[in-house]
Amino acid sequence: MFENTSRLGRLAFYGGGIFSFCVALNAIQLVTSPLFKINKEKARNLNASLAGSVWLLIQDVFEKKHKGKITYSGDDLPEKENAIVIVNHRSWDDFILVNSVAFRKRTVKSLKYFAKDSLKFLPGFGWGMYLMGQIFVKRNWTSDKKKIDKAFNGIKKDKEPVWIITYLEGTRFTREKLIQSHAFAKERNLPIFNNVLIPRVKGFNASVNAFRNSHVKYVYDFTLAYNHKEKGFGELPSIATILSSDISNYQFHIHIRRIPIESIPENEEEVYQWAIKMFHDKDKLLEDLKQNWTKNIDVISEEKMEWKGLLFELKKLFSRNKDVKYLE
Ligand SMILES: *[C@@H]1O[C@H](CO)[C@@H](O)[C@H](O)[C@H]1NC(C)=O
Ligand SMILES: *[C@@H]1O[C@H](CO)[C@@H](O)[C@H](O)[C@H]1NC(C)=O
Ligand SMILES: *[C@@H]1O[C@H](CO)[C@@H](O)[C@H](O)[C@H]1NC(C)=O
Ligand SMILES: *[C@@H]1O[C@H](CO)[C@@H](O)[C@H](O)[C@H]1NC(C)=O
Repeated sequence: MFENTSRLGRLAFYGGGIFSFCVALNAIQLVTSPLFKINKEKARNLNASLAGSVWLLIQDVFEKKHKGKITYSGDDLPEKENAIVIVNHRSWDDFILVNSVAFRKRTVKSLKYFAKDSLKFLPGFGWGMYLMGQIFVKRNWTSDKKKIDKAFNGIKKDKEPVWIITYLEGTRFTREKLIQSHAFAKERNLPIFNNVLIPRVKGFNASVNAFRNSHVKYVYDFTLAYNHKEKGFGELPSIATILSSDISNYQFHIHIRRIPIESIPENEEEVYQWAIKMFHDKDKLLEDLKQNWTKNIDVISEEKMEWKGLLFELKKLFSRNKDVKYLE
């Protein structure tokens, strides 16, 4: 009983705190919106710092207060590099894992998520995402394409620093979706995956082709994996659990690959094959993680990827030094 009360208390404290913070930021964003007309770069930078501080609160609760331990393997990314980031989609937790890399590589202010259109109406968080200029999509290519083109053209024109996060599977991985995906794969003569869905490639094709010969020169491939020390592979905490409880019995792993956009084929059919191959590799890696967790993988040393803490990150977010200038 006491345990439950304290969990509820913590949930109310962190959830409520973050929510109020978001609403306060929404107000600041609105009040400062005239600045957008005067100095676009400053306004965007302020926006990004404010948005980043919301991500930061959530991140610090996850990594420090509630002891969520994330490990990393694969390519060591440079700081402040622009990229299209491809992620396998499991749950809401995914964004916390993606953000964990963004904080360590100083790209939090560049994060651009594709969010579900309906989120726009969610007070606090959703409004914040709207004001941050996240890209809202309806998962309907005909109606989304225009919006995405417009967003991308703006980014290219201003050489805006970006990390564009795309979930190529288009939806979260679930048992039912996997069965549907298998049927689809059989129909099209595609490989059968067990840990990811067949990627949809329209959005990816559009992103990669839109950013060819631009300031965005890399695709990052992130494979996210979840485990629970007793309950096993694929088990992950809900957002409510993350905000309310110690999560040190969960394990989180991210495998990172860095791929030059130049090396990705331009032709539509080849891009598709390329994406299928990428998901094939993800599936294999996840299978290994499922059986052996990170035993067979070279994990990047902890010191290199340690969480530097709330104050350090806050200072970074609002510092006015060259941090604002991003690599091309
Ligand atoms: C930043 O905030 C202003 C309002 O202050 C808003 O109009 C603008 O769309 C926001 N997004 C970006 C990416 O600058
Ligand atoms: C997708 O959007 C187009 C254009 O807005 C519309 O005509 C079509 O009915 C939509 N399709 C679905 C499945 O909602
Ligand atoms: C893929 O991108 C090319 C170049 O932008 C475009 O011509 C083609 O229509 C796209 N294919 C799909 C399926 O979106
Ligand atoms: C798990 O580890 C064992 C022993 O190291 C190895 O034989 C097996 O192939 C691994 N599983 C996968 C899917 O790689």
